[in-house]
Amino acid sequence: MICFSIFFVNNHENNKYIIETLKLNGSAEEGDALFKMNCVGCHGITARGLVGPDLHSITKRLNDKEIIKQVTGGLTPPMPSFEIDPVNMSNLLNYLHSLE
Ligand code: HEC
Repeated sequence: MICFSIFFVNNHENNKYIIETLKLNGSAEEGDALFKMNCVGCHGITARGLVGPDLHSITKRLNDKEIIKQVTGGLTPPMPSFEIDPVNMSNLLNYLHSLE
C-alpha cells in the first residue's frame, strides 16, 4: 500500500526540498501507482489528458524543478497542490520520465 505521507512544503521555492528530491532516484513503478491514485482523474489513466493536459513528453518541455513546482505549488488551479515527500516526488518524476 503506497500513499502520500504528509510532508509540509511550506514554500514550493524551498530549495532544500527540491535538492533533496533531485538527489533521489525514485521508482517509476511506484510513481505510476501514485499517479493512478492522485492524478488520473484529471490527466487520464494513461496520462493522455482529460481535464488536465497530456503529460507525455512533459519532461522535454519542463525540467524537473519546474515539474516539482507544478505538483507542489498549486499555482495553476484547478490542479491542487500536493503535499508529497521527496521520495514520492522522485517516484512521480521518474514515472513522468518513463512516458514518451
Ligand atoms: C483537479 C485536476 C488535476 C489533478 C488532480 C492533477 N492535475 Fe495536473 N494539471 C491540471 C490542469 C488543469 C493543468 C493545466 C494547468 C494550466 O497550466 O493551466 C495541470 C497541469 C499539470 C502539469 C503541467 C503540464 C504542462 O503542460 O505544463 C503537470 C506536470 C501536472 N499537471 C502533473 C500532475 C500530477 C503529477 C498530478 C498528480 C500528483 C496532477 N497533475 C494532478 C489538473 C490536475
